[in-house]
Amino acid sequence: MKHLISIEDLNKSEIIKILDKSEEFEYVALGKKSLDILRGKILANLFFEPSTRTRISFECAMKRLGGDVINVSTQEASSMAKGETLADTIRVVSNYCDAIAIRHPLEGAARFAAENATVPVINAGDGAGQHPTQTLLDLYTIRKELGKIDGTKIALVGDLKYSRTIHSLIKALTLFKTKIYLVSPEALELPKEFLEELSGNIEKTKLEDIIEEVDVIYVTRIQKERFPDEEEYRKVAKSYRITAEIARRMKEEAIILHPLPRVDEISVEVDSMKQARYFKQAFYGVPVRMAILTEVML
Ligand code: NCD
Repeated sequence: MKHLISIEDLNKSEIIKILDKSEEFEYVALGKKSLDILRGKILANLFFEPSTRTRISFECAMKRLGGDVINVSTQEASSMAKGETLADTIRVVSNYCDAIAIRHPLEGAARFAAENATVPVINAGDGAGQHPTQTLLDLYTIRKELGKIDGTKIALVGDLKYSRTIHSLIKALTLFKTKIYLVSPEALELPKEFLEELSGNIEKTKLEDIIEEVDVIYVTRIQKERFPDEEEYRKVAKSYRITAEIARRMKEEAIILHPLPRVDEISVEVDSMKQARYFKQAFYGVPVRMAILTEVML
């Protein structure tokens, strides 16, 4: 049984295989071609944290491939509100579907779900832990928009401490020949244990020192819900923002990505600039999740 819990569950060639497969699904994702390869299959979306893109793009991917989806979107709406454990919920839901996509506020919850499931489990975000399907679509976007991943210079900007999209992406990027710049307020720096276990070409820096040479700026929202203390959040709120003035200093062909949702870390005036690719990135979530779903279900 193939689970996808951490991006580390995949090696470089498995990642490339999924990106190649995603390419073939783009026409289907655009509705220009129809495919029925998941007919009769059901995905259970168990989303115990807010989500727009991830949950809906999983659903869209299933439906465009002929499959179906069951949605449970809050713990309050399931029997967990009556005291049922996550383990029991997963055991039961396994009998109603062919795979489970789970999002949960606790780090490690997706791994725990996989241990109790009898169908493949896909981690759609576990606390500040991992978000492997987002990473695959981020890599897909970089490859698609720049034509390559190897040889690129990528700045990871914002909340590097709590962003699971960063924790997943940085591990994947070190499998490629990339130069990674870490740009964040001091209180939101990448946790030390990460740096110790990563062996890539990584450097802490300021945005103004590298803005003219990077190929990708990957911006993240401050993960307000993960702060143990509201006061700590207030100290860093609004501490960075990509404006049109900053974006204009980037190389012609460089791109700005963001997993979304955006709060105030990219000004809306940037949206119409050619560097802005975050909405396109959100679309790529559909073909990439098609590739992931077919990989675990067929
Ligand atoms: C991200 C997440 O949930 O980690 N959103 C997403 O899945 N696209 C990023 C975020 O919430 O800031």
